[in-house]
Amino acid sequence: MKKKVSWLKLISFFVHPKLNDMGIKEKSIDLKKRMRTALKGGGEKAIEKQKAIGKLTARERIIALLDPKSFHEYDLFVEHAAKDFDMNKKYLPGDGVITGTGTISGNPVCIYAQDFTVAGGSLGWMHAKKITKIMDHALKLKVPLIGINDSGGARIQEGVNSLAGYGEIFFRNTLASGVIPQISVILGPCAGGAVYSPALTDFVFTVEKITKMFITGPEVIKTVLGEEISMEALGGAKVHCEDTGNAHFYAESEEECFSQIKQLVSFIPWNNINKAKNFPKKSPKTRRYKIDTVMPSDAKQPYDVRDLIKAIADDSEFFEIQELFAKNITIGFARVNGETVGVVANQPLFLAGVLDVDSSDKAARFVRYCDSFNIPLFTLVDLPGYLPGVDQEHAGVIRHGAKLLYAYSEATVPKITLITRKAYGGGYIAMCSHHLRADFVFAWPTAEIAVMGPEGASNIIFRKEIMTAENPDEMRKEKVAEYKSKFANPYVAAAYGYVDAVIEPNETRKMLIHALDISKDKKVQLPAKKHGVPPF
Ligand code: HXC
Repeated sequence: MKKKVSWLKLISFFVHPKLNDMGIKEKSIDLKKRMRTALKGGGEKAIEKQKAIGKLTARERIIALLDPKSFHEYDLFVEHAAKDFDMNKKYLPGDGVITGTGTISGNPVCIYAQDFTVAGGSLGWMHAKKITKIMDHALKLKVPLIGINDSGGARIQEGVNSLAGYGEIFFRNTLASGVIPQISVILGPCAGGAVYSPALTDFVFTVEKITKMFITGPEVIKTVLGEEISMEALGGAKVHCEDTGNAHFYAESEEECFSQIKQLVSFIPWNNINKAKNFPKKSPKTRRYKIDTVMPSDAKQPYDVRDLIKAIADDSEFFEIQELFAKNITIGFARVNGETVGVVANQPLFLAGVLDVDSSDKAARFVRYCDSFNIPLFTLVDLPGYLPGVDQEHAGVIRHGAKLLYAYSEATVPKITLITRKAYGGGYIAMCSHHLRADFVFAWPTAEIAVMGPEGASNIIFRKEIMTAENPDEMRKEKVAEYKSKFANPYVAAAYGYVDAVIEPNETRKMLIHALDISKDKKVQLPAKKHGVPPF
């Protein structure tokens, strides 16, 4: 008698003869075995090397960052397809990158972490495909994307395919920009292509002694230029947080870094359609932060604007961004009556809070971030203007300064401005004045709104009177006083309607809450265009 053949059995026999012989139980044991092998990463030796320099493994990092048991891994069995340089004889578990989904404080995220123990986390074609797949997922599902980078850059053995992989990532970073939050964590050496993807994302986190970012490393620099420099001095965490502005957050350990990310995620929405989650309303901790005590009685004395923000914000909580870079401007998130607001504030503690090349860049990018993600802007103004000087002029302060004008003008989220003391010249306009379409501009009675400070202005417009006076110093004092009484106050601007209300300092929070409440349904239509051409 002819034996009946099951087509399914026949096909699976050719696909995997051994598997075919197994029952469900054996297949399940086989799966576990395969998983164990893949989960070993680059093996014990490589993991030990990683641990010896204070680094967690890629999988440990994901587990530490996400909510317990929330991580779901995909593409564990992806393997590289390279053949050259004996690559066909090498097994690279997961092709050196772990991808998946999970939650942070209940918020969904897509995540990838490069595994340095596997070929130095280098990026080959399949490695890149895993990353781009999870990026596509994040964009489709409209959830934040977190990339933990720890990579020697383009996998040299895979040639142009590695470069192609980077190109595909950069393209997606750009598409996702302004649609979903993109967070980069630099937890190892990131060279070449490995640094451009983070540069295209919204927030870059670094860790002391672990982070290294550069386009060309110390070896190349030595060969080409004959200059010697350590990796740390070239592209360590401090360098990128303090000097280059390439990074936004600095931590002393991976643990601290993950706690910063968790805090950030609590302030921002999942995507550009939603608003950030509201928190229970809380009053400021007025015992510690009180406007009356934060503000010095002498208007020439500096103060820490972060204390002023804390005196206004819910629970006196202020989550600062780029704390170590361009300290003359302060940016970050706070909550007011439970709602997230993006705060931009001149910082009188540094350079009297002037605007310059770096502070304009820093604030402009943040304004655009808030505008993309429906976060209202609260701007605190106290500055003598743009920083004068040959260095600044030659560094392009015109172009960089214009970025802030552009960002505020283009922003359509609710924009609320408070002028506390000085608002001079271009600084007055740039710090979200009515002319750039602030919805509300409040000023304290101590505000001084003018083209420039009384001393500078008097030296110019009263020069003849001062020079020809019997006592030039006396005359200067007189003229400064005259100028002050005429212009260095909020009432001239208020008379033209450029200031909506002159308010008592202790009314600030109340006015801000009302302004935010009443702006909830703000909708502004900008002229139709493909996109603008900002002074990048
Ligand atoms: C292939 C790599 C690799 C790479 C590291 N490895 N980088 N394999 N391609 N790019 C491998 C090493 O061969 C080694 O494998 C393992 O990873 C660990 O590396 P080590 O050198 O032992 O580690 P360490 O001493 O910690 O040094 C790390 C490093 C160094 C600083 C990252 O490996 C390095 O300089 N790599 C090259 C960095 C680089 O120049 N990348 C730029 C590529 S060009 P074994 O088998 O021995 O364990 C690029 C252009 C893209 O990215 C441009 C897009 C715009």
